[in-house]
Amino acid sequence: MYLRGTARVNEAGHLEIGGVSTTTLAREFGTPLYVVDEALFRDNCRRYRKAFGSGNRVVYAGKALLCTAVCRLVDEEGLYLDVVSGGELYTALHAGFPPARIYFHGNNKSAEEILQGLEAGVGRFVVDSIQELGLLDRLAGETGVEAEILLRLTPGIEAHTHEYIRTGQIDSKFGLAIETGQAQAAIRQALASPHLRLVGLHCHIGSQIFELAPFCDAARVLVNFAAGIRADSGWTLEELNLGGGLGIYYASGDNPPAIEEYAAALVEAVEEAAAAAGLPLPRIVVEPGRSIAGPAGTTLYTVGVVKEIPGVRIYVAVDGGMNDNPRPALYQARYEAVIANRMNEEARATVTIAGKCCESGDILIYNARLPYPEPGDIIAVPATGAYSYTMSMNYNRLPRPAVVLVRDGQAEEVVAREDYQDLVRNDRMPKRLWK
Ligand code: LLP
Repeated sequence: MYLRGTARVNEAGHLEIGGVSTTTLAREFGTPLYVVDEALFRDNCRRYRKAFGSGNRVVYAGKALLCTAVCRLVDEEGLYLDVVSGGELYTALHAGFPPARIYFHGNNKSAEEILQGLEAGVGRFVVDSIQELGLLDRLAGETGVEAEILLRLTPGIEAHTHEYIRTGQIDSKFGLAIETGQAQAAIRQALASPHLRLVGLHCHIGSQIFELAPFCDAARVLVNFAAGIRADSGWTLEELNLGGGLGIYYASGDNPPAIEEYAAALVEAVEEAAAAAGLPLPRIVVEPGRSIAGPAGTTLYTVGVVKEIPGVRIYVAVDGGMNDNPRPALYQARYEAVIANRMNEEARATVTIAGKCCESGDILIYNARLPYPEPGDIIAVPATGAYSYTMSMNYNRLPRPAVVLVRDGQAEEVVAREDYQDLVRNDRMPKRLWK
């Protein structure tokens, strides 16, 4: 089993993270529980900043894991922040994150969200469509704020990842295609506006990507495109934002490049392409989410029903499931697991870890190798720091778990566990149904 960050096996044979035993965490905070290794989260931020160097920018993609405490970590580490909705923007501002270091994304920003961004003074709007360009232009004019923008383009690159998280191809709900001429039209429109300052171009080709070539190809496509625009209009690309997407290790067979390899490949591709096209070297911006938050998170569950169907399968049901981690159900995502209170025991059983939702597809892991699980055991699923908490839901009216930050032997709740009152808080009873 691959132990990440500060994870280790303690004297009692229990999994420990951030100097705290996960069995203690399960007892104190209950399960399911999201545990975040603060040191590893910070270390990933630092590795990114160091690898890209001071002239470039690392923007943490909040959609991977966001709450006010995470905003503070990102701020303290000197990263920028990518938000994709009024809610994420509100969270960041509420945490005191400097608005000038915020990138505002989204393929369908509402007028209210755009105004929220303009009034807060966000550093960049990443404009996704011609319609948004018109709306932003009008609202920036009305508020008297000059908006600094990037245009999100689809470079026509198809990366090898799950179809639902692939975004660089032309047939995408995101961005403006270069091939169709829409990207050029948007640039002309942006350059003509007195309320908008076009700083650069953006693309994001997908997520959980292990090959470096598609990132480099996308960088070359954008640099060459920008060189063509410069020849036509004199506009010079200042900032090249290549999105996020670096994959992480979830289960055997996954072999992601290191952050440093990814950075070196991207920087080299941009330098070479810019030199070849005679373009001044732009500032490189990347937007990692998963590769910062993912490895830093572990989800703890308690084993409930163990059901052996002789000759078929052993189902081990845990007290969470697709409601706290919809990724296996949505993307056939694979994970590994351990029994946190029996780390030194041999993994002799092959079991299927099922959730507690009323849904046959609510299976977290097929064929996990574990010591034979007993009711009450604590199952830990590593690499769940990204897109678990943020995609969690209340299906079957299950309250959402707490998020706990661990560091140096201390554990602090950064998102409280929902309770039953939270579940009925927004329910309203029409008078005619009163009893
Ligand atoms: N920038 C943009 C514009 C994005 O759309 C995304 C992810 C990122 C950055 C961060 O990408 P990352 O470094 O995390 O790969 N829910 C899916 C992933 C959706 C990714 C959406 N956009 C999952 O659980 O796999």
